[in-house]
Amino acid sequence: MSATSLLKQHLQQRQLQGKTHVAMRPGTMEKLSGLGREPLVRAVAEPEPLRSLGAAPAPAARIIRDTPPPPETKKVELLEVAGATIEEKLAALRAMAETWEPALAMTGLRKTMVFAVGSAQASLMFVGEAPGAEEEKLREPFVGPAGQKLTAIIKAMGLDRPQVYISNICKFRPAMDNQGSGNRKPEAAEMRACLPFVLTEIDLIKPKVIVALGATAAEGLGIPGSVGGLRGRFHSTSGIPTMVTYHPSYLLREEKTGDGIRAKRAVWEDMLKVMEQLGLPISEKQRGYFLAK
Ligand code: URA
Repeated sequence: MSATSLLKQHLQQRQLQGKTHVAMRPGTMEKLSGLGREPLVRAVAEPEPLRSLGAAPAPAARIIRDTPPPPETKKVELLEVAGATIEEKLAALRAMAETWEPALAMTGLRKTMVFAVGSAQASLMFVGEAPGAEEEKLREPFVGPAGQKLTAIIKAMGLDRPQVYISNICKFRPAMDNQGSGNRKPEAAEMRACLPFVLTEIDLIKPKVIVALGATAAEGLGIPGSVGGLRGRFHSTSGIPTMVTYHPSYLLREEKTGDGIRAKRAVWEDMLKVMEQLGLPISEKQRGYFLAK
């Protein structure tokens, strides 16, 4: 049998095996052109081995992945805590957070843990991003200027601060050079290190509605995007309706340098939806706040 016929037979066998490409040495392909028709299996030139550089001959075939493997998506495990009541379980969770190695090992996080505040029976839970200077001092979330704004929003909804539950994605204040009273947003890894806590808090309290304050808190809860694009409708955190709205710090900034009324109106529209979802009474006065005059 001639070399060309042998080659043809070989290609037919490869095709029967389901192969679509075969690697060949240069020169062999030219011989194939004498077969008189399109090769049954497409031939690909095998790269010349880099003999002059003393490299090992190139392998005859390589597997090329055209679809990268999907990114590893790790499920966040809830933390198991002992206790007969939700209050006791939350107390045990708080104690666990004090010595939480994954967060304490992060050089970007300071070491004072600020847990949460409010009712374990709350129907409404607010989630912020991380404690700031005042919060770290008093070891309570939202007690600084942004906290006062949040308290005013809660009051405008006809509720008192102790009736709701207020927490943060990140339980430690993000560190900065020359920190002073400065604050920065927690990074994704910093939020991830604390995420089991806020998710376990949600699992224990089972609020009817969650409000994510700002895009960082929303991202931490697994709702990525800008507040402008996310607000005004409910998303879901572990099956619980979640409203994303502007962070109170944004309202404070807008009051000073931007369109404070526009930002406040947007937050209030979101809170009216939250009140409806919770079945809270809404007075005419409440409906009328910020209506264009
Ligand atoms: N901003 C937050 O996101 N959380 C706080 O506790 C305080 C300010």
